[in-house]
Amino acid sequence: MNGRDLVRSVRMVRAVGAAQGLRSVRAAWRRRKADASALPRRGAERARVPGTARDAESLPGGGVIHFARSSLRVRVAVGGAVFCGWDGAGPEPSYALAGACPEVDPRAVLEPDTEGGWRVVSERVLVVVSRFGAVEVRTPGGAMLRRELPPRWWDRVAAEGAEGSGDDAGAAVAVASRWVQQSEVAADARFFGLGGRAGGPRLRDGVHRLWNTDPGGAFGPGDDPLYLTMPVQLVVADAGTHLVFHDNSWDGRVTLHEGAEGAGSGHDRPGTCELRMDGGPLCYWVLAGTPARVLLGWTALTGAPALPPRWALGYQHARWGFGGAEEVRRVVAGYRERELPLSAVHLDIDHYDGHRVFTVDRERYPDLPGLAGELRDQGVRLVSIVDPAVKAEPGNAVYDAGVAADAFVRDARGEVVRGVAWAGESVYPDFTDARVRAWWGALYAERLAQGFAGVWHDMNEPVSFAAFGEATLPRSARHALEGRGGDHREAHNVYGLAMAQAAFEGLCELRPEERPFLFSRSGWAGLQRYGGTWSGDVATGWPGLRASLALVLGLGLCGVPYSGPDVGGFSGEPSPELYLRWFQLGAYLPLFRTHSALWAGRREPWEFGAEVLEHARAALRERARLLPYFVTLGQLARLSGAPYVRPMWWSAPRDRALRDVEDAFLLGDALLVAPVLEAGAVRRAVRLPRGRWYDTATGRAYEGPGRVWVEAPLSRVPVLAKAGSVLPVAGADGGTELEAWAPAAGRTGGGLVVPDGGDGWQRPEVARFTSRWEGGRVVVERRDGRPMEYRVRVRGLDGAEGGAVDG
Ligand code: GLC
Repeated sequence: MNGRDLVRSVRMVRAVGAAQGLRSVRAAWRRRKADASALPRRGAERARVPGTARDAESLPGGGVIHFARSSLRVRVAVGGAVFCGWDGAGPEPSYALAGACPEVDPRAVLEPDTEGGWRVVSERVLVVVSRFGAVEVRTPGGAMLRRELPPRWWDRVAAEGAEGSGDDAGAAVAVASRWVQQSEVAADARFFGLGGRAGGPRLRDGVHRLWNTDPGGAFGPGDDPLYLTMPVQLVVADAGTHLVFHDNSWDGRVTLHEGAEGAGSGHDRPGTCELRMDGGPLCYWVLAGTPARVLLGWTALTGAPALPPRWALGYQHARWGFGGAEEVRRVVAGYRERELPLSAVHLDIDHYDGHRVFTVDRERYPDLPGLAGELRDQGVRLVSIVDPAVKAEPGNAVYDAGVAADAFVRDARGEVVRGVAWAGESVYPDFTDARVRAWWGALYAERLAQGFAGVWHDMNEPVSFAAFGEATLPRSARHALEGRGGDHREAHNVYGLAMAQAAFEGLCELRPEERPFLFSRSGWAGLQRYGGTWSGDVATGWPGLRASLALVLGLGLCGVPYSGPDVGGFSGEPSPELYLRWFQLGAYLPLFRTHSALWAGRREPWEFGAEVLEHARAALRERARLLPYFVTLGQLARLSGAPYVRPMWWSAPRDRALRDVEDAFLLGDALLVAPVLEAGAVRRAVRLPRGRWYDTATGRAYEGPGRVWVEAPLSRVPVLAKAGSVLPVAGADGGTELEAWAPAAGRTGGGLVVPDGGDGWQRPEVARFTSRWEGGRVVVERRDGRPMEYRVRVRGLDGAEGGAVDG
């Protein structure tokens, strides 16, 4: 046991008690033993590179290039996504793809290149493959986006005398090899993505691991990896933006180094990226274009983000340790009495009977459906935590049913794997089996019958408490992997994703008329099809506040737009100022939820004094006012993949200064939010993109690009509106109206509005509005010429609020 393990054990005993501590020691030993006997040892290995290109064959959308010791398939899909697969790897099977692999673009053709290489010319990218297997991804105009050096594999030499797999394999057969691929990007490029990273959003030089991990306790910006990793990199450079996705769920490491432009010497040092995977195929997708175009392509490939119901865009309060129904009522009444809008309450594991999933502690919640109905009448929904681990105890109905259905993960000897979770000794459903997903999905009927309106998936990395070593299932544990069969080394990173699929599909079947509301701590590429995520156990403190924003921004760039932190931080007691600044940030993030650890104090806004309460109320009201805008942004995320929360460079990726901004963000096209992330600050610098921006509180106009100082009193965080923008907000009567910010002189503007279509599957129409100056007035009209159905308020006229102007 090393020092980190010891700290983890101490924290665990504090959280779960001594008996659990003992179980977690036993479980850790069991896991170690299972892996020692069942995992292949790293024996003799043979290094391999592709060798020289011999010939190539044209295939639809590209072709295959044959090298002496490997082959490379290049396949361009309709829409411009490029697939590259070495060693015979194809785009399927894949947990990331939304459905069938997209069709090939028949216009993309393979041609011989100079010096014995090959090229595939397509509409959006040019792929140039050298004679030795280096792959360059260029813009159609020829500018370099990414250069991959020939990959290298280490094939395990399994058995003497077995049949060879290639001309260099001799008398040995190559199985599950690990591999490395090194790439170069432009000297000015910046890296983003890789799932939820606390140290971002701009990824720092160093190693980023691809292995979904509960850091234990709470995390800060220095902790990596976290719960939701994915091999998705978004690279932004002057030459263009591109996304690379390695469709491989094995454990891996990405080592990044930003480049540098040769000051004086004239020699640029390119940025570098090295990807090392423990196994699995070497295959990847590349998408290039503007950031908006790349995200559109990425969600076309991996699925449109699920649309949260309107209420899930309101403020939500969670608590680990509600005493019972009475306390829930008291807390909800506390919000009501203080006129603080509240849209949902989340019940944590303590509402279960002895922490057993899909049960209820009937002493503390004698009539949960009754409570849910009561709250519902007040406009407050109930959300339930759901953990995957099932207490291994005959008589526990879910366990008995799972045993009968043969639903639980087994080890290499065929025994059901036992781990430790909140309820004690537990077993884990194998969500990589469609049959098990269907069984598990049907269990949510119990949650619906209890009156819950949404689910919060937790501990699905998956976690098995371990006194030492990794706090998850043994790597040798067996998984169905959709009938292919495999072990936890391959299934681990997709476990949370497959659990989300099970719940989403189950809920759709159980209640077809309503969109499910689901968010999950762990996941992988494609999670957005089923729901969102949240920060997990972010440490209370100013660094945790910063990490919260990094996570939301990074996940949005990986296609998962709906997320948010535990406002106030999970692990400790925030100062009133920190709580307030966190609350003010949360008010502008898609998932706006207060939550904390059992031992970390309360998070209701009135717990931090009268001043905080007053300012928190203002933040809640502003969130409620912006709800129609959030609804629109959710719809637009579904239609286009563009996240609600976008980095400052989103519309200006060539503005290098914006690439390094990590303390502000764009909320849709119209707003720029500059949260306060430091103690004591009452004004702050904001780097503006090009154009005119109005401080929404003072009406003062600023001209970008450049850096300006804005006031940030405790009562609010700076929010700026782009000149010309039109956004939907809630009017005083609760109806939607349009807020239009005056365009700069001689300019025009506009915005999109998607009305709330209810909690079902209706597809509301997107309305486009334009704004322009006409004879000294600002005129806002529907682009399609139809009559204006909203009241319009024009703001930003000479620093003061203007009067109403109709279309
Ligand atoms: C995990 C979750 C946290 C939850 C706790 C108890 O730590 O991340 O949100 O409150 O488990 O269920």
